[in-house]
Amino acid sequence: MTSMKTETISAAPTPNGQGKKLFIKTYGCQMNVYDSERMAEAMGSDGYTQVDSAEAADMVLINTCHIREKASEKLYSDLGRLRKLKKDKPDLKIGVAGCVAQAEGAEILRRAPQVDVVVGPQAYHRLPAMARAALAGHTQQLDTDFPAEDKFDNLPKARAARGPMAFLTVQEGCDKFCAFCVVPYTRGSEVSRPAARILDEARALVERGVRDITLLGQNVNAYHGAGHGAGHGAGAQGDLTLAGLIRALAKIDGLLRIRYTTSHPNDMGDDLIEAHGEVPQLMPYLHLPVQSGSDKILKAMNRKHTAEQYLRQIERIRAARPDILLSSDFIAGFPGETDSDHAATMDLIRQVRFGAAYSFKYSARPGTPAAEKAEVDNDVADARLQEMQALLSSQQYALQAAMVGREVGVLYEKAGRLDAQLVGKSDHLHAVHVIDPAGKIGELVRVKITASVTNSLKGQRIG
Ligand code: SAH
Ligand code: SF4
Ligand code: F3S
Repeated sequence: MTSMKTETISAAPTPNGQGKKLFIKTYGCQMNVYDSERMAEAMGSDGYTQVDSAEAADMVLINTCHIREKASEKLYSDLGRLRKLKKDKPDLKIGVAGCVAQAEGAEILRRAPQVDVVVGPQAYHRLPAMARAALAGHTQQLDTDFPAEDKFDNLPKARAARGPMAFLTVQEGCDKFCAFCVVPYTRGSEVSRPAARILDEARALVERGVRDITLLGQNVNAYHGAGHGAGHGAGAQGDLTLAGLIRALAKIDGLLRIRYTTSHPNDMGDDLIEAHGEVPQLMPYLHLPVQSGSDKILKAMNRKHTAEQYLRQIERIRAARPDILLSSDFIAGFPGETDSDHAATMDLIRQVRFGAAYSFKYSARPGTPAAEKAEVDNDVADARLQEMQALLSSQQYALQAAMVGREVGVLYEKAGRLDAQLVGKSDHLHAVHVIDPAGKIGELVRVKITASVTNSLKGQRIG
């Protein structure tokens, strides 16, 4: 995982992107989605407008994910296609951002000479300058430095809202070093943004019509940002915990819903659990990854908690907010996982009853401690993943079916495929389809759920 800078961009701002078209393709987690929007805005200030295909673009930026082998391989298949496109359009500029850029920067330039810009997640504020240099004929630029300054402070403040739901990154990086995970290397150590900046950005989003904000961080519940905390939600140094930040956000008029992701079980503080019971804007949905139900595997993963401790956390959370919908991530086939370890994971799933889940087959990532260990047989890992997914899907459908007859809030997000149909998210983050000729996008309405279909619900507006 290199962090080096082979090129220094001169300050002389030569041609900017006036009139040029930018296509951004985003892989990976919500943090990448948020970053892509911020990069689009930074490039927008330099004259670029966004288009939705590489063919229509003067510059293509691929925002990559390195979490599993399959995710990072996508970059090279995209670059292959772009190389052909560049043959027909020699002026096309190609940029690579995100976690593969951070992890494999120099290697990308070596394997793909058609690439003009490689920019790591902490250097996005320097992207417009790199794009200018690319227009001036400078190819193969690399910037994967972790600067002392906060990248967000150096990106344009104003954000165009693209709908009533938005992401807002409040914390970046990770200090947990789970044995399988690249994030601490690609995103660096944990940094929390100051509360005042987050509140400003949230207010600006609300002014632009946003009603539902998801606070993002790789370990968002470890948030401890400079602020003026007192009482509930104040950390040791008078800084704000995530609970404090949520309580401050809940005072913004017009911000109707608050969510956060992703959380670590060891950072579910009492004040955050209390907030789930007390702050009406904090939605009843929690993504709390556990990865495995076997204590032996949890230890080998360096997760620093047991299955029992996780189950106890769930009990406390459910005591504060009984209708909360729980979601998690699981890894099948971690090195050393036996049939009985897998059975322990299945058992934990049965005990919790998840409403949503993401499960993955273990993928050895270069540079992580787990990659040194002998892997589980591929067919065995596949079979375990399938078994886990079958159980998780059945739980998802059962909880969806249990929503039928209940009344929930739905925030209309977009038009549906049918006439007069609107689609929005429920409080529990279910997609809900409603026929509502009078409804408007951005409206929060009361809906009675009438049916559960594969991955969504149907409902009737009642208020
Ligand atoms: N910060 C979050 C998750 C970040 S990555 C957390 O700690 O929960 C998202 C998910 O990808 C992880 O929860 C894990 O389930 C999965 N993942 C990460 N590295 C992986 C690997 N090497 N192989 C398979 N799945 C992995
Ligand atoms: Fe990766 Fe673990 Fe950090 Fe999550 S907590 S980002 S899984 S190292
Ligand atoms: Fe992927 Fe990086 Fe997110 S590795 S999951 S894009 S933090």
